Amino acid sequence: MPGATVEETGREVTNMCGIVGYTGPREAGPVLMDGLRRLEYRGYDSAGIALVTENGDLFVEKRAGKVAVLQDALGADTPRAGVGLGHTRWATHGRPSDLNAHPHSDCTGRISVVHNGIVENFRELRDELAAKGHVLASETDTEVVAHLVEDAYRGDLADAVRAALRRLEGAYALVVMHRDEPDRLVGARLNAPLLVGLGDGESFLASDASALVAYTKRVIFLADGDVADLRPGTATITDIAGKPVDRPIDVIPWSAEAAEKGGYAHFMLKEIHEQPAALRSAMAGRVRGDNVCIEEIDALRDRFINVSRVELIACGTAYYASLVGAQLFQDWLGVPARANVASEFRYSPPPLDARTLVVAVTQSGETADTIAAARLARERGSMVIAVTNTVGSAITREAHASVFLQAGPEVAVAATKTFVTQVVTLVMLAADIAQQLGRRTKAEEDELVRALRALPEAAERAIELAAVTEEMASRYAEAAGFMYIGRAFGYPAALEGALKIKEISYLHAEGYAAGELKHGPISLLDADVPLVAVATRSPVYDKLISNLMEGKARDARVLAVATEGDKQIEQLATDVCWVPDTLDPLSTILAVIPLQLFAYYVAVARGRDVDQPRNLAKSVTVE
Ligand code: F6R
Repeated sequence: MPGATVEETGREVTNMCGIVGYTGPREAGPVLMDGLRRLEYRGYDSAGIALVTENGDLFVEKRAGKVAVLQDALGADTPRAGVGLGHTRWATHGRPSDLNAHPHSDCTGRISVVHNGIVENFRELRDELAAKGHVLASETDTEVVAHLVEDAYRGDLADAVRAALRRLEGAYALVVMHRDEPDRLVGARLNAPLLVGLGDGESFLASDASALVAYTKRVIFLADGDVADLRPGTATITDIAGKPVDRPIDVIPWSAEAAEKGGYAHFMLKEIHEQPAALRSAMAGRVRGDNVCIEEIDALRDRFINVSRVELIACGTAYYASLVGAQLFQDWLGVPARANVASEFRYSPPPLDARTLVVAVTQSGETADTIAAARLARERGSMVIAVTNTVGSAITREAHASVFLQAGPEVAVAATKTFVTQVVTLVMLAADIAQQLGRRTKAEEDELVRALRALPEAAERAIELAAVTEEMASRYAEAAGFMYIGRAFGYPAALEGALKIKEISYLHAEGYAAGELKHGPISLLDADVPLVAVATRSPVYDKLISNLMEGKARDARVLAVATEGDKQIEQLATDVCWVPDTLDPLSTILAVIPLQLFAYYVAVARGRDVDQPRNLAKSVTVE
């Protein structure tokens, strides 16, 4: 089946790799290495550069590991060259290795390509190229682009790139150069960011302004479908057919430091805003036609028929995402399913056998407790699927199959975009297995696919609607603490909202199943302890409203997260954050967005170190 285009699943994917290109009078090597160091802040797993040297050779050096490893391999001097391209990779296809690092070359070693994005039809293209005699060296989707350009090359690089692009489905920001055209760079963008920098007699391409603001602030933000043909100091932009298009030159007002954060004050805020793109990336190639298909689990498909129980294991935010997963595995597969805190799992493990499916959810893939729990399950014969953001991480070695979040690197300690992509990936995983086992109707499946396709735009709308949280936070920032409540799919959102407040504002917050409120914690509520209620449209809405009223009756201010158009809640709550309507299992994703932003603005109002809160590490590698 041909891969769905990203157009079908949405628009921009998340910026997963860092790209830089240069043509001009400076030494290209140091300019590229400087750009790569500036892109490295997000944490990459391999890096590489290619140069057309003054002798006319194509020089390539690429290494797994950090940019410093590449620098060591290069030594003090790079070959003299006025044109080149560089890349820091954040793996989506193929584990981090020297071979899989970019740039990638064609068979003749004349063409060099770097890429950010996902070529969804790369398997078909790879087979087609191999049948024509091309030899592909790596496991990456990107390498097919170099060979497609090679096939189409008739002496004009831009023409060849445009011809290759017409074959690609998916998302790309690409930079291509050819040994025989030594001052030329060709860039192209579709659903992944790429900008041109114009200096005095020199030109740049970069995925992220931070790589070029040290040299120039005059930039052209390329639009989807643009192909940029660069020579020193000039850029000609066309569409994929070669028709010239006009793009304005903008001046970036950011410093290099602000550019890393895309102009946002903190990485956390940037990553909250990246969530629509991260959701698109997570679904790219998986929501296809009218069904959901996760290829990474193909090798396990024969075994799903025997699954009699599902155990999810995770810590922190990933555990809250797993609570959504557990509800869905249970509902859709019709077998018992449970989310487990990984650090407790080993002390009281459930019966684990070959009929148990264990899903280990971990952004970093390095959380010690989650790894230990997965190992125990595997030793006892269970099938282990990892859901992680990190290709090549430790959890992928424990698991029988790994499903990647494709969310792009997350820099802020407080998880945001990886929470929503964990939830959507678990939704897709449960739906795929249930569909294979014939446990869901076609109508249910169609309804889910429609809701998934609409989700990135709904997340964009939720972010817009949550603009009110900044003003609200100024009124709630002096609270003594918070009580968050939710039911069913609102419950994990409440837990995650409370965790965000605790982590970054250092205020106490409880996340509770709303029905438990009157079994104890209600005594905490008063005028200084507001109630935050996840009250989106759902089958448990009326019950949640009763709990909200209980809080109101104790003089607590009530901040509700509610579905747009809900007239009743406006009368009941002190403040309302609206979110768009969606299918119930996806409601956690939209409900958490205003809660993330509320926590962010409360922390800012309290003067906290939002991106690196005290006492916390991004990944917890000790038990
Ligand atoms: C909270 C947060 C942590 C992590 C937890 C698990 O914002 O980030 O609670 O979710 O430490 O980490 P991973 O997902 O890397 O296993």
